[in-house]
Amino acid sequence: MDNALAMSNHDVAVLILAAGKGTRLKSHLAKVLHHAGGRSLVEHVVRACLPLRAKRIIAAVGHQAEQVSAAVEPLGATTVLQQPQNGTGHALLVSKRAIGNAKFVVVLPGDAPLIRTETLRALIQKHKAGNAAATILTAVLADPSGYGRILRKSGDTVAAIIEESQLTSDQRELNEINSSIYCFAAAKLWPALAQVKPENKHREIYLTDAISILNSKGETVLAEIATDPREALGCNTRADLAGVDRTFREWKCEALMSDGVTIQLPETVLVDPDVSVGEDTVLEPCVQLLGKTKIGARCTIRTASVLHDMTVDDGVIVEPHCVLTASRVESEVVIGPFARLRPESHLLKGSRVGNFVEIKKSTIGEGSKAPHLSYIGDTKVGSKANIGAGTITCNYDGFAKHPTTIGNRVFVGSDSTLVAPVKLGDGAYVAAGSVITENVPPDALGIGRGRQANKPGWAAKKRREIAAHSTLTPKKAKRKKRP
Ligand code: UD1
Ligand code: MG
Repeated sequence: MDNALAMSNHDVAVLILAAGKGTRLKSHLAKVLHHAGGRSLVEHVVRACLPLRAKRIIAAVGHQAEQVSAAVEPLGATTVLQQPQNGTGHALLVSKRAIGNAKFVVVLPGDAPLIRTETLRALIQKHKAGNAAATILTAVLADPSGYGRILRKSGDTVAAIIEESQLTSDQRELNEINSSIYCFAAAKLWPALAQVKPENKHREIYLTDAISILNSKGETVLAEIATDPREALGCNTRADLAGVDRTFREWKCEALMSDGVTIQLPETVLVDPDVSVGEDTVLEPCVQLLGKTKIGARCTIRTASVLHDMTVDDGVIVEPHCVLTASRVESEVVIGPFARLRPESHLLKGSRVGNFVEIKKSTIGEGSKAPHLSYIGDTKVGSKANIGAGTITCNYDGFAKHPTTIGNRVFVGSDSTLVAPVKLGDGAYVAAGSVITENVPPDALGIGRGRQANKPGWAAKKRREIAAHSTLTPKKAKRKKRP
């Protein structure tokens, strides 16, 4: 990076416009709090600004101010209340004090989350080098509808921004749009804004009108065209949100693939921004990796599995359709298909959790197996144990949760019920179909079931009785079907 770009922008204040409601989304939630690419829109914008090392980052908040403040303040932004929200220009006016004596003001809308730091750096650079009053980040779009259009004055300079509602039929052809991301010289901005009048359908003070005022004063207004036009996209509708989300997911999958991850049908795979995946891991179609999930190297995460806040070591196989949450899986483990890990579970090296098994807040020891149809909750399983099909730990008595301890090399026969609190000592066996209510000592066999009694000839006798009964009583006449 060249020195000028690496420099901190101590003379720049950043203002993020985040006070609007977002009427077009038809939502109770403020627009900038809607999510795309795994984060709220406004969080993406703040994060793109942080590496600029500006003098300060301010967000104008209004609609659901408290929640929007709670989203941006932990990232280091301060907030200014814009109440009521009388337009993008008005948002700047109410932020004037907070902006203070910064020489340059970078303005961003809170609803354009794809913006990248490098692009902001290029915008500031162009603005400073051109000694401009304002520099607008623009983009050329195949479909510019919905955006303010750039009316060029000469090749390099801008005469005005025309809002969609004010376009003449000729201007409708203009396909260079205003991203609503600008760099202003503060000394030129404030007098121009003071002249803006709310002369539009919504009776709002539009920041865009400051551009033609600057131009009419003979000031220089430049435009920096975004190399990737997607960076300028705003989210006014649900369809916009879906489009932006798709782009974030695409970028994340591209980054993982360039780091050595194989992704099959990447357009179906959804990965959150903080997720990491090791080399030679394979993600099959329709996988979702969410939250702070970390996956090691050489794993296979098979189709339609959803992992949230998981830590997975190397060489793990997650078979199709597993739902794994906030748990730790050590190397060489095989899970699924159709398995569920609930929070605070820990599968040690080489263990196996199979079909239709639910594990909650439990540890499964090295090489132990729970291959089929079980519920294991609040349980500690030692190493090399075998939990038979259909084993259930009864950890809840209606009032409190109780622990189960299963020692090393324990064999639990199928369809057993372990009523907690209970302990099975090392090397113990539990007979199939048992209800275990007392501890089983090490190396003992626990049997907790009724004894089987066989009644010789009982079934044959029963069949004879049934046959005799049916010859005595004539079959009922079939009812006629109603018409
Ligand atoms: C705005 C621009 C338009 C541009 C488009 C790019 C204006 C008048 N128009 O239109 O030229 O092409 O962005 O996406 O500026 N906000 C406030 N306070 C307010 C009003 C809005 O903070 O009083 C915030 C909103 O929360 C939003 C941002 O400003 O984050 C932009 O507002 P929005 O209503 O989305 O403007 P657009 O119609 O998209
Ligand atoms: Mg918008």
